[in-house]
Amino acid sequence: MTQRIYLPGLTRRGLLTGAAGAATLVAVPGLRSPAIAQKAPLKVGLMLPYTGTFAKLGQFIDDGFRLYVEQKGGKLGGREITFVQVDDESKPEAGTDNMNRLVGREKVDVVVGTVHSGVAMAMVKVARDNNTMLVIPNAGANDATGPQCAPNIFRTSFSNWQPAHPMGKVMFDAGHKNVVTITWRYAAGAESIASFTENFTKAGGKVVENLALPFPEVEFQALLTQIATLKPDAVFCFFAGGGAVKFVKDYAAAGLNKTIPLYGSGFLTDGVIPAQGEAANGLKTTLHYADNLDNPENKAFLAAFKAKTKQDGDIYAVQGYDSATLLDIGLSAVGGDDKAREKLVDAMAKAKIKSPRGPLSFNKAHNPIQHIYLREVKNGRNEFVKIAHENLDDPSRGCRMA
Ligand code: BEZ
Repeated sequence: MTQRIYLPGLTRRGLLTGAAGAATLVAVPGLRSPAIAQKAPLKVGLMLPYTGTFAKLGQFIDDGFRLYVEQKGGKLGGREITFVQVDDESKPEAGTDNMNRLVGREKVDVVVGTVHSGVAMAMVKVARDNNTMLVIPNAGANDATGPQCAPNIFRTSFSNWQPAHPMGKVMFDAGHKNVVTITWRYAAGAESIASFTENFTKAGGKVVENLALPFPEVEFQALLTQIATLKPDAVFCFFAGGGAVKFVKDYAAAGLNKTIPLYGSGFLTDGVIPAQGEAANGLKTTLHYADNLDNPENKAFLAAFKAKTKQDGDIYAVQGYDSATLLDIGLSAVGGDDKAREKLVDAMAKAKIKSPRGPLSFNKAHNPIQHIYLREVKNGRNEFVKIAHENLDDPSRGCRMA
């Protein structure tokens, strides 16, 4: 059954969907009388962007999460799931209020969110203050699994440090010695550029200019003119979603792709190649996923995602799917009883997942350890080139969890 209700006070609209009902009596084979074997459904708050430049990313995380739950008959760890859905619009200034409403008014048991690093850090603070279980299915803010790490906070995606880091060596080895970087001026952009720079300069390269514009602006022309004047060997960038579509098209329209190769974290091209069209051809990026990864989990996932949504899956859909997988592992270890917190967290921390992205496990800060792939846009897909860094862990600097 699907119920939709308006939640007054939410920034956009809230939807309650999924199974309804309270504790039910079920007959257990072998017992003479029915036993109370089920708790009330577990209430999952999905706090994601459903509008704005990251709208498609949020929707695909949502679709991926729900796909896994559907495959498990509407349950995780044997426990019925209901959803409360909030559009965070990628607005950090509304992050605390949205999270407080989910935790306070809606009394969700678990929050899954979000995409934008700034919004995620607001969520992390509330989750720490209230000891709410939080699974981050995208936002890479280093601090979430750094100084702000906590037993009740898990990330199934990446730290901003991770996908950008191997690209420093990849670009230096490709013969690029002088590079310009460009991004949005916010945590994910700054941390991606810093991580790339760390590895690129270690290899012997030089960053000649760091260019930036406010999030989520897309007026790139003045900065593209600067790149043309600087004539670097190559450009490294961080953009995602709608902004990535516009940047790649503008870069090609300015003719820069013919003389100055463009590289990026894989968010530059993941999930957006159809919108970028020919301008994306040949772009090389690093990420913890490639569309044509040759493993059974990826093949099954892409087929199931297509059957459900009629669309091609991407890393965001995978991250949503893996967030549900991780919760399933935790809840299965406690028979669906999320109040058995210590055991739940322990099972999640020790999880070893055969993800569509390849092997996925977690470090002491609850951040993924995973392969980072070099990919190239060919045939309208992010095609696997090689593993750029095998089982890359995150430094999780400042995390004090044992
Ligand atoms: C972030 O804000 O952390 C982010 C957003 C989109 C893609 C990757 C990272």
